[in-house]
Amino acid sequence: MKQKREHSLEVLLTREQIQTRVAQLGEEITRDYKGAGELVLAAVLRGSVYFAVDLSRHLDLPFILDFIGISSYGRGSAYEGIVRITKDLESNIAHKNVLLLEDILDTGLTLNYLIRNLNTRNPSSLRVCAFLDMPARRIVDIPVDYCGFNLPDLFVVGYGLDYHERYRNLEFVAELQEL
Ligand code: IMP
Ligand code: MG
Repeated sequence: MKQKREHSLEVLLTREQIQTRVAQLGEEITRDYKGAGELVLAAVLRGSVYFAVDLSRHLDLPFILDFIGISSYGRGSAYEGIVRITKDLESNIAHKNVLLLEDILDTGLTLNYLIRNLNTRNPSSLRVCAFLDMPARRIVDIPVDYCGFNLPDLFVVGYGLDYHERYRNLEFVAELQEL
């Protein structure tokens, strides 16, 4: 019989810490883009959906919430960094300010691909907002314009982040540990 893996969760960021920080980010982004026309929020499916929804509630700006779906091979796999667009943005981003929303910036390979791809479409600006950043794991240098929290090299779940599709709906972020 297949052995069932057991995990434990250690809370790293509480719901309150997350909500406070997301509100601050929303205020910062509002200040920076005030008067700059309509902003396109390009949320990377599927992990950043929770972050994108919460952040958008704190924006006092005209914006379009749009989504881009990618398929990338899992963390630690030999194919890490091979990214394919599975669902494209619906907005035309030429001459628009675009803010890419990511759940976590890890090696940077995914965002590196997306930034290069979106830049070919001539946006007037393209910035990155990552809910979490793990700078210690970076392989490609990515300019991070807005970041929720920096974390050390751990495997985390919750607030959109999954382990084989589990734990996305947690309102907190936890380290996943194998027992
Ligand atoms: P990167 O291309 O290595 O920067 O990683 C991007 C993607 O890997 C993220 O958008 C996540 O979907 C996934 N990922 C990286 N680290 C973690 C983690 O600690 N927990 C859950 N997913 C992760
Ligand atoms: Mg992701």
